[in-house]
Order: sequence, then structure tokens, then C-alpha cells
Amino acid sequence: MSDNLEQRIRSARLRDKITDAATAATWIKDGTTVGMSGFTRAGDAKVVPLALAERARHEPLKITLLTGASLGGDVDRQLTEAGALVRRMPFQGDPTLRAAINRGEVMYVDQHLSETVEFLRSGQIDPVDVAIIEAVAINEDGGIIPTTSVGNSASFAILANKVIVEINLAHSLELEGVHDIFIPKRRPMREPAPVLQPSDRVGTPAIQIPVEKIVAIVITNQPDSTSPNLPPDQETAAIAANLVKFFENEVKAGRLTESLMPLQAGIGTIANAVMSGLIDSPFKHLTMYSEVLQDSTFELMDAGKMDFASGSSITLSPRKASEVFSNFSKYKDRLVLRPQEISNYPEIIRRLGIITVNTALEADIYGNVNSTHVMGSNMMNGIGGSGDFSRNAYLSVFATKSVAKGGKISSIVPMVAHTDHAGQDVDILVTEVGLADLRGLAPRERAQVIINNCVAEPYRQMLKDYVAEATQRGGQTPHVLEKALSWHVRLQQTGSMLPEVEVTSLKAAA
Ligand code: COA
Repeated sequence: MSDNLEQRIRSARLRDKITDAATAATWIKDGTTVGMSGFTRAGDAKVVPLALAERARHEPLKITLLTGASLGGDVDRQLTEAGALVRRMPFQGDPTLRAAINRGEVMYVDQHLSETVEFLRSGQIDPVDVAIIEAVAINEDGGIIPTTSVGNSASFAILANKVIVEINLAHSLELEGVHDIFIPKRRPMREPAPVLQPSDRVGTPAIQIPVEKIVAIVITNQPDSTSPNLPPDQETAAIAANLVKFFENEVKAGRLTESLMPLQAGIGTIANAVMSGLIDSPFKHLTMYSEVLQDSTFELMDAGKMDFASGSSITLSPRKASEVFSNFSKYKDRLVLRPQEISNYPEIIRRLGIITVNTALEADIYGNVNSTHVMGSNMMNGIGGSGDFSRNAYLSVFATKSVAKGGKISSIVPMVAHTDHAGQDVDILVTEVGLADLRGLAPRERAQVIINNCVAEPYRQMLKDYVAEATQRGGQTPHVLEKALSWHVRLQQTGSMLPEVEVTSLKAAA
């Protein structure tokens, strides 16, 4: 037994549980529910899930799979291709699984990320039979020290009958101490979650479970998958600049200070780029109370702009991952990773007064936002934590480029084809064109501000025409129902939301 393994598995009794992935996977039976660690590609189990997929190729094996959020590597793809997934929740981001979901082959429960373990804890969904958790180490008493994410791992391990642990030697032991595991008591006698500022530690550094529940330990040595985010471009830089200008005005008006309020940033290229835009802003002593800590968090720390970041996972580009994890001591005291129900806890979000920045696939003229369903039907990723944060925010910002797919799709439409965030949860809508401050505005006023500030021609005039016609029909939120989704229908029929005449004139101009 190497010293290294003794440092990683601190009980001799537990070291007897070391086995290979295929043997560990035999603990998972057909028809059961499996809870796996992993949140936005960080801290996911690397080998047992693939051994499970391999088994499913040769024998009847179908599972319900719960995770923190999206998985890295090939796990969701391989499980999907092996036909192993019956039901999947609460979030995913894999193209193969996405296609299977949209074909109706996998029942996907797209859920607010703070809620999954609440449902489990209260027995409102089927219990987790086996948890598979990636860890940097296991303490003598069975305490599991997670890796780059906490996600739902703690509650999966606590609530499951059996726990399989993957000890990943590729993650440094320096991660120990960065986690803060706080598990709310069962309701109705629950006490407040006592996080009063982003840096507060209110739990334990390890996931405490009875040591007997650990049935197998597998040793791996594989880094996390890295973030697929693209670097900032001209449009995302313009979105960031619009938001910075707005924050500057809020400071001038005395509603914010130069440290703003704790920030949350959604997943993806746009939210990450918007946060990076704060590097060239006048703000300082920023903090984050967010879900995923992306490149921008560490860029802001490196630039001396950010003092502290609380999240549930760390997901970085290849370059940033190597910089951060080879110098982790530089950041460790300024980071905490929490269970996702605590990073996304409505009580804490409301108390801290968080500025949330999430991304829309499309928004409508009244500020309703669709973040999940392309053309109202096809799942993209899922709502993630965007609903947890935006509903309870101090200031809820949604960002999007004004057009997608080279201008064939307007991100601002008469009516969204699916609603994730009702207008009431959207305070600010920002595109590269400009920013709409919707606070205190009635729907008819919101439409004017959104169209004038966030939309470029030719869609701006098209929306003005729509509103003019709708307003004649009256209503608190005027619509022309037979035309409300006509832009989507045109896209389906012609490949563009632009009427034929506009497409022709654009082609001519090009
Ligand atoms: N219709 C169809 N496709 C659209 C679209 C629309 N209205 N708007 C954008 N897209 C496409 C883009 O073209 C791009 O496609 P590609 O991957 O083929 O290039 C893709 O959607 C991603 O869009 P992009 O503009 O690059 O934004 P992003 O990487 O920032 O992702 C979301 C945007 C909405 C998909 C992503 O943020 C998401 O899944 N959000 C929901 C979950 C969430 O907010 N979680 C955070 C909570 S903490």
C-alpha cells in the first residue's frame, strides 16, 4: 500500500474495500436509482459510471440517474448509447443525451437545482439506492472529502443505502478544507441556514456518513473535463460594457457601492464573458455567491477585483484549470464549495441581496425568458439554478445576444415559445445593443424599453409593428394571439425569422 493511498484512505478497514470499476458497478442493480457526484463537469465519478454503461451493453440494466448537474467526460453519452437511462434529473448538457431526451427516449426532469435533495429528503421522489461519489480522500471515520464540486453529493451519500467512492489521485489533497457541508434539517422544524456573508463557513469539511455504508472504493487518476465555454467576443464584450455602465449609474444613484452586491453568474459563454468584463470596471472588493465558479472568477481574483467566491463547483477552461489547480494555495482561502441546495438556497440569496446574471435563449417584449427550450419543444440543457437565483435576487439580470444563428433568429420575440422565468423575475434585460431596466415598469412600458434598447433592426421595426397592432386590441399585456408565435413558425418553415423580403435585402447588402 503506497503512502499516497494511506493519506487518501485513512482507515485500514476501508482500504480493504478497494476494487476495480467493473466489480464496484455490480452493486448497482437493474431498475434502481443512482445518485452520482458531478456538477457542470466538475467532480464527477470517472470510471464506475462507464463500467455501468459497459454492463448495460450486455445485460438488462436500466437506471434512474440523479446528479448535481451536467457530467463531464463521456458519461451521459455512454449511458445513453448503452440504453441505460430511463429517467435523468435534474440537469444535463450532453448532445447525445439531449437528442435522446428530445426523441422521448429518456424521461428528463428539468428541475430547479436547489430542489432535488429536498424532494429526496422528504420522500417525494424515489430514494437513491446507490451513490457514486468522487473524493480526494476518506477520513478514518468515513467522512468523504469531495473534489471540485459538492453538488448533491452530500445528500446522495447520506440518503443512499450504499456508497461507492472513487478516489481520484489527479485532484490535489490541497482541495481538502475548501468544502463546507451544511445539511438543512427536515421540515417543518428547520432552522435558518446561517450564512450571513459569502465567506461564512457553517458546516463540516467532509460528508459525514456511517463508514459501513461505503461498499467499494475505486482508485482513479483522471482530471475533470474542462469547460466548453468560448472566449469573450465583440458582442459579449458589448453586453458586459452595457452592464458595467448600468452598475456605474446605480453606484452614482447611491443604490450600490463600488463592491456592488454578491454576484452570481450563470453557466455558458455569455455569463462567463459578462463577468470577465468586470475586470476593466471601476468596481473592487467584489464577492460571488454563485453556483459554478468559472474562468471569470479566477480572472477577477487575479486582477485584484474579487475578494471571495462561494460556489458549488469549479469548472475551468484547460488553460485556467492548469493555472488554478497548480497554484491552488493562492486561491484556497478565498473559496468555499457548498452543497448546491445551499449555494442556491432561496433564504440566503434573498438575505445576501445577490445580483444574478443568467442567460436567455430568447426573451419576449414583456420580459418573459426562455432559457431551456429551443422552439418551445426541444430541450437545450435545463433551467439549472437560474430560477433559484433570479426569483430571489436583489437584481435579476438576463443577458443574451440580440440575434442567434447569424441573424436568422431574433433573441427578442413577440412571445417566448416556452417560459422559464416570468417577467416578474426579470429586472434587467441586456444585449449587445443595450440594456432595458424593467424595474417598476408595467408590461406596456416594458415592451417599449426592451424594443428600443435591446433589439437591432430589422427586428426592432417588426416588433414595433407587432406592439402597435397588439395595443389596438387592448389588454394589460397586449398580444395578437394568431401572430404571437408566427416568428417561430416562419423559422420552422423557412429557416429564418425574417420575412422573405428582409432576407433578400440582407443578402443583397452582404
Ligand atoms: N434559438 C435557437 N438556438 C439558440 C437561440 C435561440 N433563440 N439562442 C441561442 N441559441 C444557440 C446558439 O446559437 C448556440 O448554439 P451553438 O452551440 O450551436 O453555437 C447555443 O444556443 C448557445 O448559445 P450561446 O449564445 O453560445 O450562449 P451560452 O453558451 O451562454 O448558453 C444557454 C446559453 C441559455 C443555452 C445556457 O446559458 C443555459 O443552458 N442556460 C440555462 C441554465 C442556466 O442558466 N444555468 C445557470 C444557473 S446558475
